[in-house]
Amino acid sequence: MKIGILSAGGDCPGINAAIRGVGKTAIVQYGMEVIGISNGFSGLIDMTTEPLTEDSLSGILTLGGTILGTSRMKPFKQQAGDTVDDKPQVIKENYEKLGLDALVCIGGNGTQKTANLLYKEGLNIVGLPKTIDNDVWGTDVTFGFDSAVNIATDAIDRLHTTANSHKRVMVIEVMGHNAGWLALYSGLAAGGDIILLPELDYDMDIVAKNLLSRAEKGKPYSIVVVGEGIKVPNKKNPARYIAKQIQEKTGLETRETILGYIQRGGSPSPADRILATRYGAYAAQLISEGKFGTMVSLKQGQITSVPLSDVGGKTQLIEEGNRLVKKARNMGVCFGDNK
Ligand code: F6P
Repeated sequence: MKIGILSAGGDCPGINAAIRGVGKTAIVQYGMEVIGISNGFSGLIDMTTEPLTEDSLSGILTLGGTILGTSRMKPFKQQAGDTVDDKPQVIKENYEKLGLDALVCIGGNGTQKTANLLYKEGLNIVGLPKTIDNDVWGTDVTFGFDSAVNIATDAIDRLHTTANSHKRVMVIEVMGHNAGWLALYSGLAAGGDIILLPELDYDMDIVAKNLLSRAEKGKPYSIVVVGEGIKVPNKKNPARYIAKQIQEKTGLETRETILGYIQRGGSPSPADRILATRYGAYAAQLISEGKFGTMVSLKQGQITSVPLSDVGGKTQLIEEGNRLVKKARNMGVCFGDNK
């Protein structure tokens, strides 16, 4: 069999570990031929590919980013810069021209949606869930998330000392798109006092009251962790808006930090290396068994797969009953509401 691997959407730590997991298992265990497709689905339009061999897959386990490159090119949407009219048709033709028997699509929600549509068009697809946002439906966790939690946690840890020295309120904005997983996990891991999640409505008066009461109790500083997807008026920047509101409503000296792309860069954590390797190896197994139209997933610690048709178009968000949120509330963490 000849298989192709591509990575699409935003990059994250662990993609190379996944490429290596798929590629090495496909070559060593199943005797398959493997090629890498450059820059997401764009590589299937302009046919930029490279052979992936045991040699070329060596030494990439610990590398951040993706050796294949990535893009946000969406085959089923017209986008600026498109070089062909019927992108799905060209992709189908090129899949045939390349002699592919299967295609592994490493990506987040958008990529898995596209993967499902390509499967419906007749391509043999296996999806691999990756993103720092951890918001892919159908899996308990995506690789990239643990590394990003580590980075964000380290950043928040560092804010504690400077906040304490200056007796300030520190607002830090972390990524996560419309999901609050990264804010919740890094916020709890680093002892955030207030955590604002996109999934939960917050009230600035409650946030201000909480901060003033902390100050009255003699707490010298406070840390406010904000998910980038929280609702703010007029598309304002979340951290800036929250910091300004706090300063105005409490008079407490407040500063903001926007962590940005640092959260996506660098070497994957050991846990992500292992998860990505397990996902990759299982993708090769699914291909060898002809189980297409599926996405590799982790359910209660076990690697399994789910139909791509169940995944596409959905997002895994934090629900109100989330046990971690509940435990945090019981310990006095404020989520900006009265619950
Ligand atoms: O989905 C991953 C992610 O890093 C989000 O957390 C963030 O909102 C987005 O990608 C940024 O995307 P871009 O790379 O297009 O700026």
